[in-house]
Amino acid sequence: MLDLACGHALVAQLMLLLDDSSQEALAVDVKLPPSASRVAAGLSLAWPRLAGRVALCEARLDSVATSRSDVVVSCHACGSLTDDVLDRAIQARARVAVLPCCQSAGSCDAGALEGWLDPALAVDVTRVAKLRAAGYRVHTQTIPASITSKNRLLLAEPC
Ligand SMILES: C[S@@+](CC[C@H](N)C(=O)[O-])C[C@H]1O[C@@H](n2cnc3c(N)ncnc32)[C@H](O)[C@@H]1O
Repeated sequence: MLDLACGHALVAQLMLLLDDSSQEALAVDVKLPPSASRVAAGLSLAWPRLAGRVALCEARLDSVATSRSDVVVSCHACGSLTDDVLDRAIQARARVAVLPCCQSAGSCDAGALEGWLDPALAVDVTRVAKLRAAGYRVHTQTIPASITSKNRLLLAEPC
C-alpha cells in the first residue's frame, strides 16, 4: 500500500484496517504534518494490529519506487499532483485509487472537453480516458458530498 501526498496518512491507516491482506503501507509526503506520528501512535493504541505497519516517509512522491504489486492511493493530491500519482501507477502497472481536487484546465489536461464540461470534470474525464488507453479497467464513484465536495473517486486496475 502506497499512500502518496499522504498528509496525516489516514488513508493508509484506514486501508490497512479495511483490508488486512496488505502487510504494510508506506505513506509519503513532501512535508509530513508534525502531528502525523502522534496520530499514528494513537491509532495503533486503538487498533494494535496497525502497530509498525505504516511507515511515514518525508519525501517527494517522485522519489519513491512503485511496483506492480503496490496499491497506490492518493486523497486530494492537488491539481497536477494527481496526474503524477496516476503516471507513477501506470508506469508500474499498479492498481490505483485517487480522490482528485484542485483540478485546473491550466495545469492539468482537460482533453479539450472544457467547452462542454465543467473544467474540473473535464480533467477527471480525461484522466479516465488516459487510464483506459493505458490498458486499465476503470471504476468511477462518488463519496458523499457531506464528507467533501471534491468527491470523485477514481479506481483503476490493469486489465
Ligand atoms: C491537500 S493535502 C492532502 C493530504 C492528505 N492526503 C489528505 O487527504 O488529508 C496535499 C498534500 O500533498 C503534499 N505534497 C505536495 N507536493 C508533493 C510532492 N511533490 N510529493 C509528495 N507530497 C506532496 C502536501 O504536503 C500535502 O500534504
